[in-house]
Amino acid sequence: MPVTPLDEHCWAIDTPASTYVIRVEVDPATGEAAPAQKYWGPRLSTEAARQVAAAREPRRHVTSFSTPSEAEELLPVDGGTRWGTPSLQVSFGHARSVELRFAGASEHDEGGGAQRLDLALADAHHPFEVVLSIRAREDTDVIERWTTVRHPPDQAGEPITVTRLDSANWFVPDQAGYRYSGVFGAWAEEFQLQREPLPVGELVFTSRQGITSHQANPWIMIDAGAAGEEHGEVWGVALAWSGSWRLTTTHRPEGGVSVSAGFGHEGVRWTLEPGQELTGPPALGLYSAAGFGAASRAWHEYARRHVLPTPGEERPVLYNSWEATAFAVTESGQLELAKTAASLGVELFVIDDGWFGARDDDTTSLGDWWPHRERFPAGLRGMLDGIRELGMRVGLWVEPEMVSPDSDLYRAHPDWILHLEHRRRDQKRNQLVLNFARRDIRDWALDWLDRLVTELDLDYFKWDMNRPFTQAGWPEQGAAQDRVWIEHTRGVYDVLDRLRERHPGLRIESCSGGGGRVDLGILRRTDEVWPSDNTDAKDRQQIQHGFSQLYPASTMSAWVTDSPNVTTGRAMPLRYRFHVAMAGVLGIGGDLPEWSPQELAEAAELIAQYKSVRRVIQHGAQFRLAGTPGQERSAVQYVLDDLVVALVYNPLGNAKRGPRRLRLAGLDPEALYEVVLGGDAGEGVRGRLAHGSRWYGSALMAAGIRPAAWEPIGADYRSDLVVLKRVSH
Ligand code: DGJ
Repeated sequence: MPVTPLDEHCWAIDTPASTYVIRVEVDPATGEAAPAQKYWGPRLSTEAARQVAAAREPRRHVTSFSTPSEAEELLPVDGGTRWGTPSLQVSFGHARSVELRFAGASEHDEGGGAQRLDLALADAHHPFEVVLSIRAREDTDVIERWTTVRHPPDQAGEPITVTRLDSANWFVPDQAGYRYSGVFGAWAEEFQLQREPLPVGELVFTSRQGITSHQANPWIMIDAGAAGEEHGEVWGVALAWSGSWRLTTTHRPEGGVSVSAGFGHEGVRWTLEPGQELTGPPALGLYSAAGFGAASRAWHEYARRHVLPTPGEERPVLYNSWEATAFAVTESGQLELAKTAASLGVELFVIDDGWFGARDDDTTSLGDWWPHRERFPAGLRGMLDGIRELGMRVGLWVEPEMVSPDSDLYRAHPDWILHLEHRRRDQKRNQLVLNFARRDIRDWALDWLDRLVTELDLDYFKWDMNRPFTQAGWPEQGAAQDRVWIEHTRGVYDVLDRLRERHPGLRIESCSGGGGRVDLGILRRTDEVWPSDNTDAKDRQQIQHGFSQLYPASTMSAWVTDSPNVTTGRAMPLRYRFHVAMAGVLGIGGDLPEWSPQELAEAAELIAQYKSVRRVIQHGAQFRLAGTPGQERSAVQYVLDDLVVALVYNPLGNAKRGPRRLRLAGLDPEALYEVVLGGDAGEGVRGRLAHGSRWYGSALMAAGIRPAAWEPIGADYRSDLVVLKRVSH
């Protein structure tokens, strides 16, 4: 089992390839307890872990002016001789400062190869308890940690106010140097990978928007500066939370790097009455010995095994109407799109914004979730039946957390939104945020969502969220209204969970103006996510590259849209657009009546090809093979059982420099692989990937091959889908 007690204060926590050793350090002079990390790295035997735990290293350069060892604590508190960013900050009455005593540990077998260790601590004076929970599993190297704080029942005392509750602090073992990787961006430019030396100081990735945000995503990876896709040690931390969050990486001037991650918002006050407790979301840690590629594959596998609600399914090819019709959703228009989509092989037809209330543009009707009265002569149900008769499933766009000031809902319930007394109600995109912290509002949302699914027989919702919080108050709660920052997100989770419980067949896509709410919290209750409103294939390659660092391809919705692209104006061949979208869950979002017969025929063929390999793309091990995607030659590869799928790209017609041979990865070196799709027709040039040719795994990995799309001279935007099958073992 993963948790091995080494003595009554010390544990080794093992995953298949890593070990995490912790000890509750008790200061003999003061009695203060500080659970600390003694080791996090490659797997150790129990005896080796015991040696690591016993080693009493001199504390890091303690001086009168600093205690650097606080970086190694599992949850450095605001109190004692600590001056770093606290993971836990609490006030008792008017005074801040926590002093903890060790109150015991318990191990819990959770079944399925999972074991949890709880470390209980209690304040030396105030009625305040802290439980650090650590869960490890036999089938993943991801370790889950979270923290609960509690005011015990029947124990009055000073009011307890929590202003920071991080779920975990992780220490990155000492390295000669440090580099961080993370993704940043903006609307239509999400998931831009940044990999830079880690400066001394505090580096904060955060969202104060009430959603995960486009600007940053809640994870970081740290290496010594030389790790690559397939080599080098990497330590990663991710937070499974979809509201405001903060992830603080501290690189201490005296040396030592730690990452503290948690939910909440700057200065949020959460008061604990006797009997109340607050638990943070899981903060996840992963050690990987074999580079960023292996780290990503471990995160993907973790998501499949322990996060996603329907990991075994193959996601259908969907059509979405947004770029084709925007708000002009009409029965005839949608049916025309649907007929063409069905003829191409589309399996799920999703009607985006514009089907409800009097929604002719974005100034009105959010909250009025009944079919648009003028748009559907045969009724919405009649139109959806027409789409179903074409052999497709059907879905609708919704934005449940929102209300337009111009709506019947707002006129009836102006108090339902997040608001503060004596403050403006600032609009973004002409809309306001409903307070999902309130049970009555959640019940209202669940009721109409439930009714839509039942009455219209829906298979799918695209759940959108198009603006951050402002004036985020809940006046009826008085001094407790800050809770809304956390309770709104919990409320969204609650509605999603109850909706899924009532409709186990329903599938849900998370969207927030593109990729504003992508994280391992929302992915626990949604099946896929919309990473960006930017559907330009060249830009999308970079977005997908950043997305893939943590999240698996099976969750990444990707549409083929029109050329020139509606956002960037860039023109690109249909084949390239398809090959980029095929790297995730393929969808179509173009104005199909405008596509030529040749384009439609090519689209049908490419959709059929995608279906023949989507299991490998969506569920296989992913390898980012080469090059900066979208900028130069690049390729991404997936392996599942005997099948290998490579998507090969070259945006540059004239590219004489850079690699010309593509080295595949993750194959059996001894086995023979045959090219069964893609590659060159007829006789292959020596070293070229000819259709039907057979190659040893070792040759494909060590020497590589020359994909046609990578030849130095040709058109801009060449690409290929190559499929190999293992034919010998
Ligand atoms: C933002 C989404 O990201 C788009 O895909 C689309 O659904 C619009 N909202 C609709 O208003």
